[in-house]
Amino acid sequence: MKKHLYIETVGCQMNLLDSELVVASLRRRGYKLVDRAQKADVILFNTCSVREHAEEKIYSALGRLKHIKRQNPQTIIGVLGCMAQNHQANVFQRAPYVDLVVGPGQLHQIPGLLDEVAEGTAQRLEVSLDRKGFAKNEIEQSFEAYDPLRTPEMRPSPYQAFVRIQIGCDKFCTYCIVPKVRGPEQCRPPKAIIAEVRQLASEGCREITLLGQTVNSYQHQNGSITTRLSDLLLQLSDIDGIERLKFVTSYPCDMTDDLLQAVGSLRKCSHYLHVPAQSGSNDILKRMKRGYTVEQYREMLSRIRHYVPDATITSDFIVGFSGETEADFVLTKALVEECRFKNSFIFKYSERPGTKGAMHHVDDVPERVKKQRNNELLDIQNTISYEDNQVRVGKQYEVLIEGPSKNADKHNSSGPLVQLAGRTMWDHIVVFEGNPRLIGEILPVTIYEANAFTLFGEVQTEHVGPEVYQLSS
Ligand code: SAH
Ligand code: SF4
Ligand code: F3S
Repeated sequence: MKKHLYIETVGCQMNLLDSELVVASLRRRGYKLVDRAQKADVILFNTCSVREHAEEKIYSALGRLKHIKRQNPQTIIGVLGCMAQNHQANVFQRAPYVDLVVGPGQLHQIPGLLDEVAEGTAQRLEVSLDRKGFAKNEIEQSFEAYDPLRTPEMRPSPYQAFVRIQIGCDKFCTYCIVPKVRGPEQCRPPKAIIAEVRQLASEGCREITLLGQTVNSYQHQNGSITTRLSDLLLQLSDIDGIERLKFVTSYPCDMTDDLLQAVGSLRKCSHYLHVPAQSGSNDILKRMKRGYTVEQYREMLSRIRHYVPDATITSDFIVGFSGETEADFVLTKALVEECRFKNSFIFKYSERPGTKGAMHHVDDVPERVKKQRNNELLDIQNTISYEDNQVRVGKQYEVLIEGPSKNADKHNSSGPLVQLAGRTMWDHIVVFEGNPRLIGEILPVTIYEANAFTLFGEVQTEHVGPEVYQLSS
């Protein structure tokens, strides 16, 4: 009999990819994916630790499963990912009915662990080594990159795929738990990445997003041959069938000229860069140990504009970090106003036990102030996004059509048409009516309306005229 699997995923793209790969490996073993925990024999949560709120949400979700386990003790409940690595056996203390706790460096073990638990083994904990107290290579080996063979039907969209090029992080920003839970920075060999992208292309994939916590610090050494991200992009550009290449997340200090030249000159590279600034105050950046000043961040932006004049840039900001004064916050607002990011993701500082931030700095900005600063910064960003999107009305963009829009069900479309969504080479989300047959195609769409987050357009199915906004070269 087929076993039923339910999985819930929170966190970043790394987690989405991990879940995709875990599901793929279990489906190969005969598991069937279901959409409700109640229907499942195995319930997995792939978790995030970046903020306390993300962890608390998982514990409440686990709490709701208690009765399922009581009714059917055979149900297996597993906690995977960053919170598993962060809390380890403490997960069993807070949720004693959990059977499996598996860190992000141990995901390859899941099929075997599920078999063991099904056969009656007691709770199992599989995590990687702590970053202190062991030799560097031992720690690295304990965080195993999880990139098994891929199959197109496992992906959310057959036309797009994430490909991991780097795991872990060595930057140790003082607020951040990621270096602890994801382990040391390790870069995958270019050969493995290229083979994976070739396979994806042969399965019909058109857009690849390369993933790494500081993806632009990618560097791989093989004897005397060094491969940087720019070299990798050049090699991936040669793969037939792949039409778009993106990479996230970039670290400001690693935005080298060779990389920007590659982005500016390779036809398939999206002119979109996610380079979080985090704060506009040098005092705060120093306390965050980000490794750059506002002046250096600005200089980096001007180099982006030099090599890729039409690039869209997005950022992350943390408000209410320890010691952030009103004057610091004013500087952050000024930076957002000056840089005119396409979007900014804004987060209230959440102290993470075990980080340098929690050890050395008091979380002294009241929640009320964090909330207010968050809203204020969001308002500034949304106004900029709205204004900049108005300039796009009337223009035509090539859009990779990803699938039905989020509101496709509610949208009143005519005949066989549905509301579809896709993205431009600058990462704008575009929504328009079209036949579902168009999904996976790259077609020109004329924009007739825009809000801060979305462009609304009309698809042109005939000949692509020269007026279409394409990347130059
Ligand atoms: N590697 C990426 C970010 C990973 S975490 C980078 O370096 O940019 C994603 C975002 O979460 C960060 O950019 C930061 O803005 C936010 N973040 C990380 N730790 C946080 C914390 N303790 N509290 C609030 N936000 C946090
Ligand atoms: Fe966290 Fe900093 Fe690493 Fe990004 S670069 S994952 S913010 S430690
Ligand atoms: Fe969260 Fe882990 Fe990603 S902590 S942001 S899921 S790397």
